[in-house]
Amino acid sequence: MKENPTWFLKSHPSGMPQTDNWDLRDMPIPDIEGDQLLVRTQWLSVDPYMRGRISPAKNYAAGLAPGDMMRGGGVGEVVSSNSPHFAPGDIVTSDHFGWQSYTVLPAQSATRVDDTDAPVQSCLSYLGMPGMTAYFSLLRSGAPKKGETVLISAASGAVGQIAGQIARIKGLDPVAIAGTDEKIAWCRELGYRTGINHRTTQDIVADVAEACPDGVDVFLDNTAGPAHDAAMLNLNVNGRVVVVGTIALADRFDEPDIGMRHLRQIMIKRACIQGFLLDDFEADYTTAKADLLSWYRQGLLKTREDVSEGIETVPEAFTRMLRGENFGKQLVRLD
Ligand SMILES: NC(=O)c1ccc[n+]([C@@H]2O[C@H](COP(=O)([O-])OP(=O)(O)OC[C@H]3O[C@@H](n4cnc5c(N)ncnc54)[C@H](OP(=O)(O)O)[C@@H]3O)[C@@H](O)[C@H]2O)c1
Repeated sequence: MKENPTWFLKSHPSGMPQTDNWDLRDMPIPDIEGDQLLVRTQWLSVDPYMRGRISPAKNYAAGLAPGDMMRGGGVGEVVSSNSPHFAPGDIVTSDHFGWQSYTVLPAQSATRVDDTDAPVQSCLSYLGMPGMTAYFSLLRSGAPKKGETVLISAASGAVGQIAGQIARIKGLDPVAIAGTDEKIAWCRELGYRTGINHRTTQDIVADVAEACPDGVDVFLDNTAGPAHDAAMLNLNVNGRVVVVGTIALADRFDEPDIGMRHLRQIMIKRACIQGFLLDDFEADYTTAKADLLSWYRQGLLKTREDVSEGIETVPEAFTRMLRGENFGKQLVRLD
């Protein structure tokens, strides 16, 4: 039995990350000092933003160097605490979990998790970062008006599954782009009117035109790539494109940006393309979480998780998500 198995970045990936870009090493269970907590990890979240963190390319946040421990969102039980605000047995979440069984957290990064309303890991999906990304990207950046058509890529994933349901709650007309027929069927169950399988389509531009006969008013671009081009070519006058993520470029992070395409469409349609970063909405997280929890309690938010078991599986869970093999929010359970 290992004491504290921990994943370290071994090398920056060239192209699509592979599991051998990481090293699993056994580490001692760390001591805490200052205002810190020692936490036994129960759940880890693997997220597309981590692709940027393991690349030397310039990003909105500092990246990791080979030899650094991987970090990300997690949930766990406090084992020992130097903070008056937390006691052993508390369940906490933080963005600073290491990819390891026992982790040291700065107390100010931790939030106590209440499991009265929803399972603890929901703070890593619909009641946390992905849920709030869906909320703010659609309702603030997308600025939709009732009845408008909202096209959403990666529609069955952690962000997309919530965005489609919020769109339905707000009286919009959501249309999905996802990578399998099963995912499209799930999107319909969530309230998406229809969907396009971007991996089997012969002509994604024509399929978006058929699925959105009145054109696209808001495009939540979770992927970049061909879905982006198809949305641009079906955009309505005054359309809004919210660039939330570029996961379709996961295998070319270190290459020069290919630049903006369909520039004429922006002019012809007087469209707006806006980049989105969740951190910019921090002042309003409480409002978003309250709305998401209220919809969840009313049974208006269905969710799906894709759970991988054990600390050994973290890099595989991450890389399969980049390949689109996850179905719902990709999590790793350690307990
Ligand atoms: N800007 C922000 O603040 C922020 C915050 C959170 C998330 N995001 C972004 O939101 C997007 C979705 O994140 P998530 O956590 O919800 O992930 P996710 O959708 O649960 O998982 C990623 C999905 O991306 C799709 N995908 C992978 N490769 C693709 C490709 N080449 N072309 C098209 N689709 C591809 C796959 O779905 P299919 O099977 O449908 O292809 C895969 O399931 C990501 O781009 C992420 O970076 C941004």
